Amino acid sequence: MTTIMLTFADGDSVRIASRSGENILAAARRAGIPLSSDCEVGDCQTCRATCVAGKVEYDELSSISLSREEVEGGEILPCVTMAASDLELRIPYERTKLVPVKQFSVKVEEIKRLSGSVVAVTARMLGLAPLRFLPGQYVHLQVPGTAEWRSYSMANAPGEDRILEFYVRLLDDGVMSRYLTERAAPGDVLSGRGPQGIFYLRSGVRPLLMVAGGTGVAPMVSMLRQMIASGEHRPVTLCFGVTEASDLFLVEELTAMACSLPECDLRIAIARASPRAGFHAGFVTDLIADEKAANSDIYLCGPPAMTDRARAMVTEFGAVASSIFSERFVPSAVSGLQASTSANV
Ligand code: FES
Repeated sequence: MTTIMLTFADGDSVRIASRSGENILAAARRAGIPLSSDCEVGDCQTCRATCVAGKVEYDELSSISLSREEVEGGEILPCVTMAASDLELRIPYERTKLVPVKQFSVKVEEIKRLSGSVVAVTARMLGLAPLRFLPGQYVHLQVPGTAEWRSYSMANAPGEDRILEFYVRLLDDGVMSRYLTERAAPGDVLSGRGPQGIFYLRSGVRPLLMVAGGTGVAPMVSMLRQMIASGEHRPVTLCFGVTEASDLFLVEELTAMACSLPECDLRIAIARASPRAGFHAGFVTDLIADEKAANSDIYLCGPPAMTDRARAMVTEFGAVASSIFSERFVPSAVSGLQASTSANV
């Protein structure tokens, strides 16, 4: 039996006991301490935590989606990690903020093409209650007529009636993509499960540096809408990048949001483009300003290569790990893996 001290982002600490061979997530659950989790196989990073003291060991049968640098930095995935000694873990979210996951149904209201590769889906919750979630979180949606589930971040702010808005990247072999382009119609009902994820807007007064690739902008949009709705006055730098000019979407909406905030610097990059006014021709990570990184809360969302590169850059510029929040979007057939991995296909 080992002892694990869990310290949440709000300073709340709790000590639990772990049995031999028991992963940390299971030990916490047995102690009546719910931790954020989703895939429970080491993929999604929704359970991500930092080991600040002690030794851990991994379930040999599991794969771990953390990079070598992250593991060396003490990052762990409690769903596939066991205590090899007494441990002290830092949990990167407030214990009281976790919103219970629930099953729900939504009715599609609109499917709108935003670019060559992205559609927006607007759906309304069935029943009287809105979905409770934090700006930046995601849900799982079942593709109608299939047993497949995919995960999408909400782009709307919480509390907007019972409406949910998602951006879906279209891929040739994506089951949700095929449904949306071939069969979907207003009135369709989709089953959902959520909210999920620990990528949500933390309160505070520090400036925000947001870096988003493709549909990874959705959680940022939710956060910005929430800030506008609540009159929050934090300076924001939003760096948004796409691959091709034909992928670009939401420029007018982002520009309008930037104008609605007291201080918002909107930067847009197109990776494969000739230089043109108003846009950077290159990667979105080129837009990260070193003088902003060290003093900001940093939110990264997009393909793993982008978030990994951005994390490395802001760390080099002086940002500390506890001020960096990231979510990786991976086109995937795995259901429920978006917290660090939102599959938008
Ligand atoms: S719940 Fe631990 S990695 Fe997904």
